[in-house]
Amino acid sequence: MKIIILSISLFLSTLFAQIQDNISRGEVLFQNNCASCHNIFTKNNVGPNIKSTSFKRTKQEIRAYVTKPARVSNDFGHKEESMPTLNLSSDDVYSIVEYIDSLQRHKIWMKSPVKPLVKF
Ligand code: HEC
Repeated sequence: MKIIILSISLFLSTLFAQIQDNISRGEVLFQNNCASCHNIFTKNNVGPNIKSTSFKRTKQEIRAYVTKPARVSNDFGHKEESMPTLNLSSDDVYSIVEYIDSLQRHKIWMKSPVKPLVKF
């Protein structure tokens, strides 16, 4: 029994460590690729404040926007040409999305269920 509990807690701590690693990796990538246009805690810069994005958007929506901004920008209510398509690997996008999602624990859809913006 002890061994089962021990292996479960070991598995969970490895899992949490991995999630934390991804968030820290995403933070560095965000600073290098996004922070010139997106502020985190202060008002809008060239692009929207990313903490409000964390509050309003699902992970899938953020991933869709970062991967193909021109394709989904109209669904988000933005102009097509407003954000450039960045050359990032899918691993990088994954970490950046985890980081952005971690900025706000409470999400808009926790208050009222909303329809997803983007159809996948
Ligand atoms: C050259 C400037 C620029 C860079 C660099 C940039 N963005 Fe943007 N981003 C924008 C603009 C401009 C908008 C849309 C603003 C509008 O039209 O109102 C936007 C919109 C977004 C949105 C939609 C936000 C929302 O809540 O509607 C997300 C998500 C986003 N950017 C993520 C990123 C991420 C992640 C990176 C880095 C990998 C990044 N952006 C890099 C300029 C930039």
